[in-house]
Amino acid sequence: MRRKEKTKVRIAKMPADGAPLRVLAISVTGAMGGAERSYLEVLRALPRERIAPVACVPPDSPLDRLCAAAEIPVESVNLRRFRRSTNPFVLAGQVKALYQGSRAIVDICKEQKIDLIHGESPFRGLEKTDAKAFREHVENGRRIYYSNCFFCHGDALGGDGMYAHAVNPVPANFQDSGVLPNFQETFFFWRIAKGGPGMPDEGAPGDSVMPEWERFLTNDEIWDVILFLYADTGYRPRTFEEGGEAKH
Ligand code: HEC
Repeated sequence: MRRKEKTKVRIAKMPADGAPLRVLAISVTGAMGGAERSYLEVLRALPRERIAPVACVPPDSPLDRLCAAAEIPVESVNLRRFRRSTNPFVLAGQVKALYQGSRAIVDICKEQKIDLIHGESPFRGLEKTDAKAFREHVENGRRIYYSNCFFCHGDALGGDGMYAHAVNPVPANFQDSGVLPNFQETFFFWRIAKGGPGMPDEGAPGDSVMPEWERFLTNDEIWDVILFLYADTGYRPRTFEEGGEAKH
């Protein structure tokens, strides 16, 4: 009989100094649908002494006003959702808005000392609206992976690259069901951008050899490599259904 593998569940560790975990919660839509309603309810229900949310929502929107009314700190950023369009001007505008949006998020994270991001990848929507463009992002992610990441994370994403035996802690194994399906893509964006030194709870740089990829890759390249990790392993990012239930 085959031994059942134990699933490792990793949860965000609290900052060491007892300060609340600072979470940036992103919503790309500001009109109140079911997802936005549960977003607001989740933020309202958080135990503030342990988790301090910052809402990142479109400016001058109903969600913007409701968050402010609930005394949740708000950062108003226009994060446009990708809409299907063949008009090159519309597309160019969307790419620019996405880029500025992700820059704005990086800046907010620095200023507000954010520990964790809750939201969605700006390119994930393409999977449904533009399969060809989505594929291109995945392929770009594959190239980025095999020029930067496989040394440690392995040829087959198993965390067993040629440097893996030399480092402690060991590189993440993306085939492990406790890693990719347990988090949203924005969490990995943050982990890849900040690397080992960026871990809020691990203290001094040098605890993990995972590099701070924001120094070497663009934001879009980081999103692309994340798309590749999911596409290649077949896992789906964690999403939150209405009512805050986790779905895999
Ligand atoms: C020099 C070795 C090394 C390289 C190169 C490297 N990593 Fe890592 N990575 C690590 C180690 C070690 C860890 C585990 C410790 C940690 O979480 O910081 C890790 C952790 C991670 C995690 C966090 C997983 C989790 O469960 O929190 C992600 C995501 C990740 N790496 C992605 C990448 C990507 C994408 C690249 C290429 C752009 C890359 N890594 C390149 C060593 C490396």
